[in-house]
Amino acid sequence: MSDHPSIKPFLRVLAGEQTAIPPIWLMRQAGRYLPEYRAIRERKESFLELCLDPKMAAEVTLQPIRRFRFDAAILFSDILIIPYALGQHVTFETGEGPRLDALDSPSALGRLRYQLDDKVLSSVYEAIELVKARLPPEVALLGFCGAPWTVATYMVAGFGTVDQIPARQFAYSHPEAFGRLIEQLVEASTAHLIGQFKAGVDAVQIFDTWAGVLPAAEFHKWCVEPCQKIVSAVREHIPDARIIGFPRGAGTKLGLYIEKTAVDAVGLDWMVDFDFGRQIQKRRPIQGNLDPLVLAVGGDALDRAVDQTLEAFAAGPFVFNLGHGVLPQTPVAHVEQLLARVRGWSSRA
Ligand code: CP3
Repeated sequence: MSDHPSIKPFLRVLAGEQTAIPPIWLMRQAGRYLPEYRAIRERKESFLELCLDPKMAAEVTLQPIRRFRFDAAILFSDILIIPYALGQHVTFETGEGPRLDALDSPSALGRLRYQLDDKVLSSVYEAIELVKARLPPEVALLGFCGAPWTVATYMVAGFGTVDQIPARQFAYSHPEAFGRLIEQLVEASTAHLIGQFKAGVDAVQIFDTWAGVLPAAEFHKWCVEPCQKIVSAVREHIPDARIIGFPRGAGTKLGLYIEKTAVDAVGLDWMVDFDFGRQIQKRRPIQGNLDPLVLAVGGDALDRAVDQTLEAFAAGPFVFNLGHGVLPQTPVAHVEQLLARVRGWSSRA
C-alpha cells in the first residue's frame, strides 16, 4: 500500500484515520438471510461445493455489495477449508452445522496431511480474482482465516460445541500434541493468508470465535502466540498486509491481544462495553460491535443501539459492524434501516 490515502474508506480506517461516516460491512453479510443466497444455495448439493466453486463463491461474495453497497466485501468461504485442505473429512449438515472426523487423540493427528491440498486453496484464490475484477473501486475486499485455536476446537470435537470442552481437555491432557496441531494450523493459516493477499485481497481478518473460553495462561498460549506468529510471518512476505484480529469474548484480555499480536485493528464482540472499547480505540482502530440480535429485532431498538454505538465510537478510527455474524432470520429491511442510519450519521452528529 502506498502513502497516498486509499479511495477505500475501509482501508483508510485500518490505517488509523477517522472518517466522517464510518465504513460499514457485516460479518456473515453473504448468507441465509439473503433470498438471492438461498436461491444459489439450493442449486448446490453441499455448502462446501459452493465454497469451492470459484464462480459461485465470487457471485455470493458480490450479492450483498450489489444490494447494500457495503464498504467491504468479505470473500465467501469458510474457516473449515483449512482442515479440509489438510485431509480431514468435513461436511456441513443443513441446520446442524459442520461435521468432521474428530481428531480425538494424539495418534489421530497422524491422519492429517503434512502439505495443504493446493487444488482446494487455488479455487479460493480464483474466486478472489473474479471478485476483484468486478468490485467497485471504493469497496475493499477482505480475506480471512480462522485462528488456530478456533479451528482446532472443530477439528478435535468433530462438530461445533457450546463450551469447546473436547479441545480444552485435549490441550490439558496432551499439551505437546495439541501444540503440534496448533503449529500446523499456524503454518497452514499463514500460507492461506499469503495466498489470499497474492490473489488480491486488501486486508484479512483472523476469526477467533472461541477465544473467550480460555483462562489467561491458555489464552496467551493458544490464542495470542499463534496469532502473533501468523501476523509476523504474513508480514515477512506481505510487508504492508492489513490484518484485523477478532478474538471473540477476550474481554479485558483485548489489550494484551492487540499489543502482542500487532494486528492493525481489532473486532469487538457485542459484550464489550463502550468505555472499554474507547480505551482500546486509543491504541488501535476498532470494528464492531452491534448485537446481531438487535438487528434481527429492528424497530426503535435498532435505531437506539445504532446511535449509541456511533456516539461511542465514531469520533475515532471506527469500522461499523456487528459483534458477531448476521443471524439467518434477520429481515433484509432491517439491514437497509441500519445502513440508512449509519450513513445519515454525519448530518445528525
Ligand atoms: O459472509 C461472510 O462472513 C463470509 C463467509 C463466512 C462463512 N463462514 C460462511 C458460512 C465466514 C467468514 C465464515 C467464518 C466461520 N465459519 C467462522 C468464524 C466466524 C463465526 O461465525 O464465528 C466459524 C466458526 C465457521 C464454521 C462454520 N461454518 C459453522 C459453525 C457453520 C454452521 C453454523 C452456521 O452458521 O450455519 C458454518 C456454515 C456457514 N459458513 C454458512 C455460511 C454462509 C451457512 C451454510 C449454509 O448455507 O447452510
